[in-house]
Amino acid sequence: MLERLERLPVDPILGLMAAFRGDADPRKVDLGVGVYRDDRGNTPVVRAVRQAEQAVLARQSTKAYVAPAGNPGFNQAMERLVLGEGHPALTSGRVRTIQTPGGCGAVRLGAEILRVASPQSVVHVSTPTWANHVPLVTGSGLELARYPYFDRASGGVDFQGMMGAIERLPARSVVLLHASCHNPTGADLSESQWHELLKVVKQRGLLPFIDMAYQGLGVGLAEDAFAPRLFSAELPEVLIAVSCSKNFGLYRERTGALHVVSESAAAADAALSQLVRIARSIYSMPPDHGAAIVHEVLSDEGLRRSWLEELSEMRGRIQGLRNELVKKLAAVYPHRSFAYIAAQRGMFSYLGIDTPQVRELRVQHHVYMTDDSRINIAGLSTGNLAYFAESVAQVLPKH
Ligand code: LMR
Repeated sequence: MLERLERLPVDPILGLMAAFRGDADPRKVDLGVGVYRDDRGNTPVVRAVRQAEQAVLARQSTKAYVAPAGNPGFNQAMERLVLGEGHPALTSGRVRTIQTPGGCGAVRLGAEILRVASPQSVVHVSTPTWANHVPLVTGSGLELARYPYFDRASGGVDFQGMMGAIERLPARSVVLLHASCHNPTGADLSESQWHELLKVVKQRGLLPFIDMAYQGLGVGLAEDAFAPRLFSAELPEVLIAVSCSKNFGLYRERTGALHVVSESAAAADAALSQLVRIARSIYSMPPDHGAAIVHEVLSDEGLRRSWLEELSEMRGRIQGLRNELVKKLAAVYPHRSFAYIAAQRGMFSYLGIDTPQVRELRVQHHVYMTDDSRINIAGLSTGNLAYFAESVAQVLPKH
């Protein structure tokens, strides 16, 4: 049966990791997969995570199953982290949470429950969106459509284009939104734009499905969660997929959550019962280790403080690199403005070069980025910034 299977190309993002590892050139620069890096190019274990991990392991007396929805302490701590203490959706008992294998698991479970609730739903994603949103959503059997989002000319959001498309969506359409640190463009809505979008979502009866994979890496924990907090307070139903990969550096531990905000406590209970059943039919239960660590960090005053400090260091380093990159590119391209790179948030920016130029950078200069010219800003460093700007100058004409 398997002999007829066709061999597939490698994943557009994960395939770059192997290509980079296999490149022996000492000048190589990895701006591919979205992992945080320090100035030496390492992705360190977050200090509070290392300490929490030791405490968790020292205390652990069994490897017996935890629970179908995962670690309840983690789930509650994540609700408070995402929505903020005392959020009205929490106090009115309208939120239920299931721990998931990473943010991908959360997006997929969200799509699966939408398909159960409303098989004809269409999920509308931004143009562009994170490459893996497409298989995660369509793999559930739901249809996917796109709305305009990025304005290449300004490096910001094409808000008019976006609103024009969303205003025309039929009731019960699902709109997949990035809470902050938009992947792949780094272009986010402003607070007033979120308010305008909320009005349309209310008027049209749309369902927001918010993906938040970078809370704390944009402006701050509360600022980055502005949209999920606002929408959950104002709307009867919201889905929020959250990842702990980047802000806790727990990439390989596959730690995430799906929060479902429902119209009533009874509807929320029903939704959770469905989610648990769906998860059971795919992977039964989520892995425990990463969630136990996050729970420990968030419930211990000292560890939480240490985590917040390190998160702020990471955010500061990314912003510093954005500013430096703008300066370096301005020196090479005096007639072009790259100021939008400094205004964007999170790990990613679009460089704005075409795929042949991206390939040339990879082959000739050992600089790795995805084919759409998305760069992981955190992969830059004091040691490679100048080399990166010089390499770009070799492939992108000055005029
Ligand atoms: C990325 O966008 O590079 C990260 O979110 C990693 C991934 O799984 O694609």
